[in-house]
Amino acid sequence: MNLIFLGPPGAGKGTIAKRLLDRFSLLQISTGDLFRENIKGQTEVGMKAKGFMDRGELVPDGIVIEMLKGRIAQDDCKGGVILDGFPRTIPQAEALAADSSVTIDKVVNFVVPDDVVVSRLCGRRICPTCGRIYHTVNMPPKVEGVCDDDGVALIQRDDDQPDAIQHRLVVYRDQTEPLIAFYRSRGMLADIDGALPDVGAIVESAALILEQLQG
Ligand code: AP5
Repeated sequence: MNLIFLGPPGAGKGTIAKRLLDRFSLLQISTGDLFRENIKGQTEVGMKAKGFMDRGELVPDGIVIEMLKGRIAQDDCKGGVILDGFPRTIPQAEALAADSSVTIDKVVNFVVPDDVVVSRLCGRRICPTCGRIYHTVNMPPKVEGVCDDDGVALIQRDDDQPDAIQHRLVVYRDQTEPLIAFYRSRGMLADIDGALPDVGAIVESAALILEQLQG
């Protein structure tokens, strides 16, 4: 089973994906996380991507597609993946459709209004060690600013600053939102309400879609 999680920045794609992985034996592939790992490791891909990411722009399609294809060809992806944040443009979706090694079973579209996105991203904090995602108000750690699992100081992403957030929303409307019509016209799209404050309820509505795919 291979899925795409589609939605605006801060829709909760990563948060919900992480809660489904064990239950459905899936692997999460986040192109954003892959780029952040490359930046940390100071690789050529990371150096090319950093400026675009910090400004809230998309990394050029050629770089993203090459990186994603390399990752998805690895053995640990054979059991099924959740693609989180890929594709984000029509050319990326077309490149994925042309790749005969991956069949996408469903595209889960997280519907979340802009005001919710902004408040989620402004308050997001991340553990740099394990990647666990927190929110200062909605999902705070037990001890302020410290990961429950690692005891490490939480960080704020460079692109979770107000100007970059606004720009990411504009980029989303312009370049990523057209994918909703692209996948809906192919009968592949399922919408879920990603704005619910109860994360468990969103997990269950996504899980229902996955269970239906499993038959
Ligand atoms: P990426 O890392 O993919 O960022 P994004 O799509 O902007 O999405 P996020 O990871 O920011 O949000 P999310 O939906 O996963 O939300 P989360 O679960 O964290 O990409 C970063 C950059 O990399 C891009 O801007 C681009 O430059 C580049 N890039 C990546 N992929 C690319 C591609 N394919 N092509 C080109 N460039 C690419 O939740 C957000 C917050 O809300 C958290 O604090 C969480 O605790 C909270 N929250 C979540 N759900 C709820 C809820 N139900 N109730 C209350 N709070 C909640």
